[in-house]
Parts: sequence; C-alpha cells; structure tokens
Amino acid sequence: MDGITHGRTLLLCTLLLWVFQVVSSGNVNVVVKPKVEVLKGKPATLPCTVTPLTTGTVVEWYIDLGTRTRIAFRRGTEKLVDAGTPLSDRIDIGEDFTLTISSVKPSDELNFTCQVSDPAGSPDGTTSLKVFSEPEHPKLTTSQAISAGTPSSSEVGTCETKNGHPLPRIVWFRDAKPLPEVKDKREKTYMVTKQVTETSGLITVMSSLYMQPTKEDKDSEFYCTVEYSMPGNKIETKDSNRIKINLNYPSGTIKFSLFNATVPVKEGDTVTMKCETDGNPQPLFEFTKNGADVQGKDGLLILKSVKRSDAALYKCTALDFEIDFILEKTINLTVDYIDPVNVTPAESKVVMLGDKATWQCKTKASRAHTVQWKKGSEVLSQNGTLSIQNVSYQNAGEYVCVGAVPSVPGLTSQASVNLTVKGKPVIDPPAPVRVGKEGDKVTLMCVAYSLTSPDFTWKPSGGEQSIMVEGNKWVSTLTLKTTADIINNGVTCKVNNEHGTDSMAFPLSLEQVGSSAEAGQGGSSAVVIAVVVCVLLLLLLVGLLYCLSKNNKLSCSKKDTKEVNSGMTNSSVVMELKTDKLNEEDGLLNKKNATEQ
Ligand SMILES: *[C@@H]1O[C@H](CO)[C@@H](O)[C@H](O)[C@H]1NC(C)=O
Ligand SMILES: *[C@@H]1O[C@H](CO)[C@@H](O)[C@H](O)[C@H]1NC(C)=O
Ligand SMILES: *[C@@H]1O[C@H](CO)[C@@H](O)[C@H](O)[C@H]1NC(C)=O
Ligand SMILES: *[C@@H]1O[C@H](CO)[C@@H](O)[C@H](O)[C@H]1NC(C)=O
Ligand SMILES: *[C@@H]1O[C@H](CO)[C@@H](O)[C@H](O)[C@H]1NC(C)=O
Ligand SMILES: *[C@@H]1O[C@H](CO)[C@@H](O)[C@H](O)[C@H]1NC(C)=O
Repeated sequence: MDGITHGRTLLLCTLLLWVFQVVSSGNVNVVVKPKVEVLKGKPATLPCTVTPLTTGTVVEWYIDLGTRTRIAFRRGTEKLVDAGTPLSDRIDIGEDFTLTISSVKPSDELNFTCQVSDPAGSPDGTTSLKVFSEPEHPKLTTSQAISAGTPSSSEVGTCETKNGHPLPRIVWFRDAKPLPEVKDKREKTYMVTKQVTETSGLITVMSSLYMQPTKEDKDSEFYCTVEYSMPGNKIETKDSNRIKINLNYPSGTIKFSLFNATVPVKEGDTVTMKCETDGNPQPLFEFTKNGADVQGKDGLLILKSVKRSDAALYKCTALDFEIDFILEKTINLTVDYIDPVNVTPAESKVVMLGDKATWQCKTKASRAHTVQWKKGSEVLSQNGTLSIQNVSYQNAGEYVCVGAVPSVPGLTSQASVNLTVKGKPVIDPPAPVRVGKEGDKVTLMCVAYSLTSPDFTWKPSGGEQSIMVEGNKWVSTLTLKTTADIINNGVTCKVNNEHGTDSMAFPLSLEQVGSSAEAGQGGSSAVVIAVVVCVLLLLLLVGLLYCLSKNNKLSCSKKDTKEVNSGMTNSSVVMELKTDKLNEEDGLLNKKNATEQ
C-alpha cells in the first residue's frame, strides 16, 4: 500500500463517517442514515445495518413520543410490529432490520432509533424523518375600501396558504418589490401572521398586511408569495393573485368633456358629455343646460339626435361632501345645421324642345355653405341658379340640388326635380353603312328622341322591322336585302309624332369587303372571327412554306390563289377588325387579288 492509496482510503473513511452515523459498542456496529426526507403520503425506508451479524442479534426500533416507545423488533426470522403505536398499521421490519413506513404522515416527523441487543453490547443509531408537503397556492383577499391619508393603519388584504409542511413563510410584495417583514404594530406598515395545524398535521398560514396608504398607492399592485422547503434543501415559491387596493381619496379637480364625439357636432349626431373627477369613488354629479337642471347618469349626459336647439352652455357640478369648495366645469355646445334645400319652382317641368328651363335653389346653414346643381355626377351650377337654354332631348332627366357645409363633414341636404322634354322627334345622324355586295343583308338602326311613341316610316319599306324604347329614346331596326336601287339611292327613316316630323337618309356604300351589318354583332362573334382568321393565316403560312420547300413557286401560287380567294369571301369581316396583323394580311390578299385580275 503506497502513500496515495493510503490517503484515499483515509479520506473515504472520513467521508463515510461524515455521511453515516456509526455507533459501535464493543465490536458490534450499527449504521443508520442520520436523516430521511420524504413527501407526505409516500413510503419511507429507514435502513439499519448491524455488523457483525450473529444468530442471537435482536434489533428494536423506537420512537420518542415523550417516552421512548418501541414500534418493532426482529430476531432472525422472528419479527414483531408493536400494536397501539401511531405507526402500528403502516410499518414493517425487514430481514436486514430496515424499517419501512408505507404512507408517511406529517406526524411521523420523529426520531427513529435502531437499537441492537447483543451479548457483546447494545449500540444504537437514530434517523430523523423529515416529512414534506407542498402548500396550496396562496389566496389573497382584500377587505373593504380604505381611505387614503388616515392616521392609523388599515388592513390591505389577507393572504392564506393551506396544507404546507414544514411551516411555510409568506412574503408580501408591492409593485413586485418585497416588503420587509415587520411584526411591530407601532409601525405604519406591518404584518400579522397566524398559523393553524390541521388535524392532518399540515399547516395553514395566514398573513394580513396593514398599511397607511396614500393616494399614490391607488395604482399599486399587491401580492404575496409562499416560500416552502422541499426535500434536498430546496426552497420553492408560489405567487398569489394580484390585487389593487380599493382606495378612497377626495376629488381635487374636475373634467367635463365631449366623449366619443366627432367635432364639430351636427344635427342628428348623438352627443355624450362626460364628467369625472380625480377622486375615488366618483362623486354624484349634477348637470344644467343654460342654468336649468337636466338629467344625467353616472357622470354621463347623453343627447340623442341633437337639434340646433340643444346648443347651449352645459354645466357639471360634483357633489362631493368631503370637500368644502365647489368643483364645476362647463361645455359650450354648438350644433351645426343646414336647412332642407328650397327649390323654386318646386315642381318638375315639361318643356318644349328649344325652350328654356330655370330653377332656383336656396338653403341656410350655421356656417358657410355651398349649393350645387347636379345631373348624375356632373356639376352644372355652383350659384343656386340652374338655367338650361335651348333645351334638347339630352337635357331630359333628374336634376339634384345639393346643399353642403364643407367644414362639417356629412352636413348636407338635397332635393331633386325632373326635366321632361317634348316636341317634334329628333333623329340621331347615322353612321355610314357599308354593304359587302349587292344582295347582302343589311341592318339599319334609326335612333330617334320623342316624349311620346312616334311612328317610324322606312323608305323603301319591307324587310324586318322592330322597335325598342328606353326613356325618350326610340330605336327602329330594319333588316333588308340590298338591291342596286337601294345601294344607289340609300334608305330613308322618317319619324313623326303629334308635334312634327324628322327624317334622315341612310347612305349605303358598296365595298368589296366588309359589311356594317355584320360588324355590329358584338364582342363574342368578333372573337370567333378572330380565331377563324388566325387559323386561316396559319393555313396560308403552312401553304406558303410548303410551296417554298417544293421550290416551285409559280405553279403553286397560281393554284392557291383560287383557294385563298374563296377563303376570303367567307371571312369578309376580317378586314373590319383592323388589327395590325390583319392589315398585313389585308395587303397580302389585295396583292394576290390584283395578280388574279
Ligand atoms: C431528534 O433529535 C435531535 C437531536 O437529538 C433533536 O434536536 C430533535 O429535536 C429531535 N427531533 C424530534 C422530532 O424529536
Ligand atoms: C363610441 O362610438 C362608437 C361608434 O362611433 C360606438 O360604437 C360606441 O358605442 C361609442 N361608445 C360609447 C361609450 O358611447
Ligand atoms: C358659446 O359659443 C357661441 C358660439 O361659439 C358663442 O356665441 C357664445 O357666446 C358662447 N357662449 C358662452 C357662454 O361662452
Ligand atoms: C350662375 O352660374 C352660371 C354658370 O355656372 C352663370 O351662367 C350665371 O350667370 C350665374 N348666375 C348668377 C345669378 O350669378
Ligand atoms: C338649339 O339647338 C339645336 C340643336 O342642338 C340647334 O340646331 C339650334 O341652332 C339651337 N338654337 C339656338 C337658338 O341656339
Ligand atoms: C324623377 O323621375 C324619376 C324616374 O322617373 C323618379 O323616380 C323620381 O321620383 C322623379 N323625381 C321627381 C322629383 O319627380
């Protein structure tokens, strides 16, 4: 054995001696753990090692309940659990003399002594059993309101934590800062702590905090923390709920203001006036309007759908009996308004074509205002006078006079009149009509304006006719087959009503391609046509490429011209679409046409 090994052995032995309590008597040794820590309700194991073991070794376990009481003993295979002790029904003694407790109670926190009776001596060893129970979350309850600035301390609240073991500690916090524990009731701030041991052996702790709060404490947050021990020298904590004290303090200043309102206030708005002081609780308030009492509620004076007559000087007075000066404040409420617009003449008008129509519009408002005449979204006049000279059918419709106060958003009023135009019919000049070739069908539309249903006369007559009407706009549609006579002399539309007649010639022009009759068919057919054109273009391109690849340009082009030409007749509308691509195509086709002629 060298020096180092020797030293290590020595150190180990010292450590063992430190950890275990070794008791020897003669040459019989008893080793027990000095301390066993266990949670309430859990089993505990208290070993007792006896060396050397002889057949006659007797081991007895004792507890100290004022008097030394045996709870169990063993000699070899013989064992006994003593009856009549608080542990009788929960303990057992093992062959190695280990004492086990099945479910530990707080009252089991005792000194357990393992005693050996041996001819060579009677050594013993004592284990101290420590029982732990985590206390419940502390509950903080607050008492009634406290008045600030009183000369004696008042109870702020009481913190209670239940069923801890060993005795837990309560610490108070104000705004997250711990308050030093003070027990002296002569201090301004102190705590009164009580503890109760329940029949279960667990401990309930209550702590009440006393203070002399000032007005500054109205927003302070209070809570308490319970600090408790757990096995292994651990200290754990649990926080209570947080409270603010219900602190009473007198009012010093008063505030009276428009609450939740858009300013400026206009007729129809709901106005809420709120009165409050910096005291707690809020005092009662009294309201007056130009000196006369008005009814408010909880510091609020609500005026629903205000009128200009509600504009007044409102006063709020605080009725706080604790103070001997008057707290009051006023609001000078103004209510903006605009009168309904006044249109003269108030009635709608029926006017002869070419005559004049005039209306006046006026209103009054609390501030600078505008008056506009509008038709749809178009503004026609800014000065209240609407004057229409030389009335046309296009002037017919609804005219609205809008009065507004620009500085008060939403403050407007309006009225409307209708203008109806009567007189001889008026035909819209037609767009030129192109005819593909003689014998093609054309559709012509004669658009005329008239208050009453007019008669349409087409010349030459015949073909299919139909009439549509929208307001004072009448549309007669004629579809007919063109003849040489029609192409040369055109078509005439004549319209007459009780006031007179209008007529209009529809010149037709012959074109090699294109027909306005088909052009007006609308978007969807145009798409179909475009697709057809694209396909044809592609076919043409493929054909061209085919010819080029065959290196026989002349014969090919001669042969194809006919095909292209027939395709062209089918797609006569193509040229009408006038897209850039088609113009190119147009040129190409024309060239080919020329070659053929
Ligand atoms: C156990 O024994 C120790 C040391 O003698 C003593 O201080 C302690 O109070 C005893 N504990 C109990 C619960 O009797
Ligand atoms: C405040 O105004 C909003 C809408 O502007 C309304 O919904 C709300 O109820 C009002 N609150 C009070 C307290 O009057
Ligand atoms: C209230 O305001 C109106 C308009 O601003 C003003 O004419 C009136 O004198 C004011 N009344 C008081 C008492 O200040
Ligand atoms: C009102 O304005 C229109 C143009 O908007 C003008 O022609 C007319 O003379 C004005 N009338 C008066 C009375 O100012
Ligand atoms: C009235 O309007 C019509 C059509 O717009 C026009 O032909 C005519 O010359 C106008 N008359 C006067 C007096 O301006
Ligand atoms: C004007 O005509 C429209 C549509 O015909 C109608 O709804 C409206 O009530 C009329 N207004 C007046 C002021 O007569």
